[in-house]
Amino acid sequence: MNFSNSNAVAYNDKVVRQFSIMAIVWGVVGMLVGVIIAAQLTWPELNFGISFLSYGRLRPLHTNAVIFAFGGCALFATAYYVVQRTCQVRLFSDRLAAFTFWGWQLVILAAAISLPLGYTQGKEYAELEWPIDILITLVWVSFAVVFFGTLGTRKVRHIYVANWFYGAFIIAVALLHVVNSAAMPAGLMKSYSAYAGVQDAMIQWWYGHNAVGFFLTAGFLGMMYYFIPKQAERPVYSYRLSIVHFWALIFTYMWAGPHHLHYTALPDWTQSLGMVFSLILLAPSWGGMINGVMTLSGAWHKLRDDPILRFLIVSLSFYGMSTFEGPMMSIKTVNALSHYTDWTIGHVHSGALGWVGLISMGSLYYLIPRLFGAKQMHSIRAIELHFWMATIGIVIYIAAMWISGVMQGLMWRAVNADGTLTYTFVESVKASFPFYVLRLLGGLLYFGGMLVMAWNVFKTAAGGRPVEILIPHVVAARPLPADPSATPAHA
Ligand code: HEM
Ligand code: HEM
Repeated sequence: MNFSNSNAVAYNDKVVRQFSIMAIVWGVVGMLVGVIIAAQLTWPELNFGISFLSYGRLRPLHTNAVIFAFGGCALFATAYYVVQRTCQVRLFSDRLAAFTFWGWQLVILAAAISLPLGYTQGKEYAELEWPIDILITLVWVSFAVVFFGTLGTRKVRHIYVANWFYGAFIIAVALLHVVNSAAMPAGLMKSYSAYAGVQDAMIQWWYGHNAVGFFLTAGFLGMMYYFIPKQAERPVYSYRLSIVHFWALIFTYMWAGPHHLHYTALPDWTQSLGMVFSLILLAPSWGGMINGVMTLSGAWHKLRDDPILRFLIVSLSFYGMSTFEGPMMSIKTVNALSHYTDWTIGHVHSGALGWVGLISMGSLYYLIPRLFGAKQMHSIRAIELHFWMATIGIVIYIAAMWISGVMQGLMWRAVNADGTLTYTFVESVKASFPFYVLRLLGGLLYFGGMLVMAWNVFKTAAGGRPVEILIPHVVAARPLPADPSATPAHA
């Protein structure tokens, strides 16, 4: 067989291209809303007295847009790309894959309309009302069929570790979504949770924490295991460690949710259990991070002149930082200080901007030229500029939040000799002001970097010509051309 043979099968890169572009579009939108709400927290007049633009409605719009639209599209794109390359087959079903793309965009559009209108179930990261929840379920089940169907028809016996992480992400998110969204409809855009009281809280934070563990972590670890070895042109540091990493992470995450409910009506032993599992979680998290970083061993010099690799590796340092900070914050006495303060927001964004954001951007920079038939990104200097804007933006954002968070916690607990509070609440709000300005500055830098990326991607896509990439397995009888997609490490 050869390349001109009509039996030759090509990868389905169309859906990967679509999701990649939308990841960038939604990244710009979601981060813009982040900047707007950061400005509203600094100057509340920016709510303009308009309900659609009020902070309470834009905040869930921000979280949904960055997590599910930006992060989600990046996850779909990379999962579809990686599963095809590592299994050496075309996606299981083109039609279902197209349905996941259009269905997911419809979910995002429905969120973008219903959240500013004030429709919400009031569950964090699961705000969308029941009709949208049903659409999410349909899309997700189709995603599972396409992904596992592709794995099932693979031409390579071994299942590369990145697929294990993507697979766990897909299964766990399905489980979380279905259980946490169980509700009784009371109208087209109104429903009541199937759970009540403390059980409702427990289910919600079992969901919330595992949304972090599986949506914001496991799938992105799939990216780490594929794109870092590819960009570094080195095999994974330890394949054995990656297997231990996988099982330890999957097992531990599920139990850590109660650390979101310290000092609440949740039984005390449950809170302690959540704390212990959160502390244990440090080990698999760092094991994975070390595996990713050490993949560069012997090739550290590449970091100097490859900004894409820098995105990927620096994302891991933020991953390490936030997965050290998380277990510390789960200790009850530490949480007594950090909970309700900006410290949590700092933690969230070191994970979100540093880990999720940077690893997605690095992976997309790897993908875009390949998907659009360009030799490389239009401007390497623009990638460099983006890297520095993003990194400096994150550091300003999280440092401002740490200082303001610890300050708030200390001010709220300060008492005078006679037992009265030293500070009024509003004094702590006033003291936070300079840090809110700084956070806005950091956010603007990060957002600016995203705009640079959008321009660079547009220029690359406009200058390239997408070509169908044939599956090497099919043409194995011929010497293969240098294939940028062959996995360097299968064992
Ligand atoms: C330009 C970049 C960004 C800016 C300026 C920004 C700003 C903000 C602000 C002001 C809040 C509300 C904080 C509060 O309630 O006190 C927030 C919340 C949040 N953001 Fe962002 N954000 C950005 C990017 C991102 C990204 C990329 C992600 C995820 C991938 C993300 C995930 C979240 C989450 C999960 C929350 C809720 C945190 C919580 O409830 O504890 N953000 N963001
Ligand atoms: C070992 C890993 C981690 C542990 C043990 C952990 C632990 C924690 C703890 C204790 C809190 C504060 C709960 C509270 O006081 O309400 C928290 C909040 C949060 N963490 Fe982590 N964290 C980890 C990793 C991460 C990563 C990597 C990300 C992001 C990619 C992340 C995202 C979040 C978010 C979004 C919240 C805020 C939830 C909310 O209240 O809305 N975490 N985490």
